[in-house]
Amino acid sequence: METRAVNAESAQVIAFPTPDAGVEERPVLVLDFGGQYSQLIARRVREARVYSELVSHRLPADAIRAKNPAALILSGGPASVYVDNAPEIDGDILGLGIPTLGICYGMQLMARDLGGSVEPNDVSEYGKTEVDLSDSALFAEMPEHQVVWMSHRDSVVAAPPGAHVVASSATTPIAAFEDPARGLYAVQFHPEVVHTPYGQQILENFLREVAGAPATWTPAAVIEEQVARIRAQVGSEKVICGLSGGVDSAVAALLVHKAIGDQLACVFVDHGLLRENEAEQVVETFGNHFHVPLVHVRAEERFLAKLAGVTDPERKRKIIGEEFIRVFEDEAAALGDVRFLVQGTLYSDVIESGGDVGVASTIKSHHNVGGLPEDMEMDLVEPLRLLFKDEVRRVGEELGLPARMVWRHPFPGPGLAIRIIGDVTRERLDILRAADAILLDEVRKAGLYREIWQCFAVLPGIRSVGVMGDERTYAYPIVIRAVTSEDAMTADWARLPYDLLETISSRIINEVRGVNRVALDISSKPPATIEWE
Ligand code: XMP
Repeated sequence: METRAVNAESAQVIAFPTPDAGVEERPVLVLDFGGQYSQLIARRVREARVYSELVSHRLPADAIRAKNPAALILSGGPASVYVDNAPEIDGDILGLGIPTLGICYGMQLMARDLGGSVEPNDVSEYGKTEVDLSDSALFAEMPEHQVVWMSHRDSVVAAPPGAHVVASSATTPIAAFEDPARGLYAVQFHPEVVHTPYGQQILENFLREVAGAPATWTPAAVIEEQVARIRAQVGSEKVICGLSGGVDSAVAALLVHKAIGDQLACVFVDHGLLRENEAEQVVETFGNHFHVPLVHVRAEERFLAKLAGVTDPERKRKIIGEEFIRVFEDEAAALGDVRFLVQGTLYSDVIESGGDVGVASTIKSHHNVGGLPEDMEMDLVEPLRLLFKDEVRRVGEELGLPARMVWRHPFPGPGLAIRIIGDVTRERLDILRAADAILLDEVRKAGLYREIWQCFAVLPGIRSVGVMGDERTYAYPIVIRAVTSEDAMTADWARLPYDLLETISSRIINEVRGVNRVALDISSKPPATIEWE
């Protein structure tokens, strides 16, 4: 496996001009203490239409003030506030006068630093818990008695002087406190998770009632803002963008096109390893519908020649990746003096690479096929750099991208080559493509496409005996792989209905020549991976 193109270094390469106005002007900063839900908090804030950034808890008070945040949220985290090396915040932060909400560890840290106290519980409180709420801006317009999600071992046993307790559970008398005069609020439970039914409303109450943050972070506002940034960044220079057929590169390209029109040229390297009709859709959507200048490189022969006889998965990836870069470089050179390259880097890549602010997190070991050469002498334009995946989709919808592209399942850069075990030939590609199309067609018709993270067919490198009519066959099986997942790091096999599986199986066997058997992959990740190679 190769490291992703978006690593810490490349993440720092690009610096957007600092906006002096706009929807990102007053972010809500989520200070990350390493909690599993930190990213989720930022996403929930954005769902409330307020721009939010995840930043390191180590950010000094000066740097925080310089960002002019509308509010701070201190995340949860696995540590105890009294252990050595417990993550801290700069002691001046809570005195900046910025409305602040502490969650779980964040609450305990606030309590400790403001003169309250925290102690370990005899038993940890974990899972759905009933709490009683008192009058508080946080809990406006909701039941006084409700269920919340708890996950803690330590508890606040004395609220800071000046603060008063506004929630309690049977085992945690201080489940929330507030000091409205100073804009300080804290909850022991997790409002960001779905298991806290009123959680989103609690966050919104904090954002609107306490922090006075308006709901301005909408797809239309994002588009307007990015268009202005892109124009400011590239001026009258030429820009190139690689299209893959996936939603990220599509939305990035459309945003750039909206900003600078025909200064943008898109290059679509069609390696012949795409799903049925996908190449046609890219050409139709970008070339014919949006009138984006598009170079469609039909490179199937080139790729298949390089892949002939190659069976090792990592070699396949490497060959495809290198060939992709070669083709792309040739096309870029042919376009003349191009100064900028568009990349579909997402906010989750930025966070994971730790490139922005030193948020402690590991670099995802990912795959870099379809990634572009690091030594290309172009500056990066990254219009999705501030967006989570669901926001990219909403922006795509707003830009008029067809639903089929907006909601497309993730697809690996090396394409069908890593879903064909063993030799990649045109004949085997055609078999897999036909089976895959039937599978997706039936899953769509059953209304299950959006519920599933990924769903695809795999062609193993074996054959087995069957009988069709009076004839004995010796043909390939097709394996159905369908998974549910949040982020592809872990996945479970999707429980497709038996009737649907039956339809898919009989259609594939009847309609795809060369296939006489259909099997279902019922492995989770880990220990299996989503893809077969
Ligand atoms: P695995 O198979 O590692 O896949 O569980 C996790 C996610 O990554 C996708 N994937 C790739 N994406 N280039 C890509 O751009 C690749 O080489 C590649 N290999 C796997 C996979 O489809 C899943 O969403």
